[in-house]
Amino acid sequence: MKATAVANANIAFVKYWGDADPALHLPANPSISMNLDALSTVTTVVFLAQQETDEVIINGVPAGDTPLRRVTTHLDRVRALAGTELQARVVSRSNFPAGAGLASSASAFAALTLAATAALGMTLAEETLSALARLGSGSACRSIPPGFVEWAAGESHETSLARSIAPPERWPLCDCIATVSTAHKTVGSAEGHARAPSSPLYRARVEGAAARVAACRTAILTRDLPALGKILETDTVMMHAITMTSRPPIYYWTPITLRIIRAVVAWRAEGLPAYYTVDAGPNVHCLCEEADATEVTRRLEALPGVQQVRIARPGGGTRLIDTTAPPGYNPL
Ligand code: DP6
Repeated sequence: MKATAVANANIAFVKYWGDADPALHLPANPSISMNLDALSTVTTVVFLAQQETDEVIINGVPAGDTPLRRVTTHLDRVRALAGTELQARVVSRSNFPAGAGLASSASAFAALTLAATAALGMTLAEETLSALARLGSGSACRSIPPGFVEWAAGESHETSLARSIAPPERWPLCDCIATVSTAHKTVGSAEGHARAPSSPLYRARVEGAAARVAACRTAILTRDLPALGKILETDTVMMHAITMTSRPPIYYWTPITLRIIRAVVAWRAEGLPAYYTVDAGPNVHCLCEEADATEVTRRLEALPGVQQVRIARPGGGTRLIDTTAPPGYNPL
């Protein structure tokens, strides 16, 4: 009745921004991402007969009302599948800040989905797990398969899921992640998705997304960084143009975000091949080849306002881990 899973966060190369069906998290467009080995969430779920209500501990403290409700709602989906009413104790820990545009809910819901289903004795196919994780947090479906991952938008719960397009070893890309703020974002992604269609730019982005996904897939399979970089940056600016022209607008970038973006463009002009992307927050991801990661990191660290730079490489899929070892270790 107990299982522990680990999941990596992911960075979107072509982003999910706007829903075709908000209740089911069916996205308006397909998306592509890379799992990030350095950013992970470990979650243990135990279902106990004596447990009266779900209890959720996140990073050592009891979850507040909103995250608790989100987790409980997701556990209800798993309970419905397993045909049980048992309540659970959930203990989850991420090694990076939550809610700052580093996709904490992607790894959190991917790990929760696998740990909860496994704790109830279910062994679900990867595609089924991916679709189920999507109901908790859209981008979580992309943290289930390993490496470079494509989320087919789909037209139903069963068809909206993510599959690996290349394993992590295919391309040792580096994501140098510049943290400029760890503050929780003021407007969450759910609200951002809801507001997106109010932007006059929304349709144009959605209409071009399938072509960008196809070009992005080819760039990954041929390890073509300039081609990938062009798509990364175009899609980032399009997504943020939508947030800034939604009603009411959302400004995720800070002056430091823009400073980093301009620096990356300037470095490229000097011959250092790095490309930026930004999710729903102020932090900037810089993608480059392994050989350039140290130099990109050094330059990012030197920029005023950059608090920390972490390097992430392509990560694996969500997996169960054995918590019986090391001896004496008990995450609960
Ligand atoms: C900008 O609805 O999956 O990261 O708030 O983490 O649940 P959570 O986000 P979600 O939206 C993700 C939005 C994005 C782009 C992306 O990952 O595709």
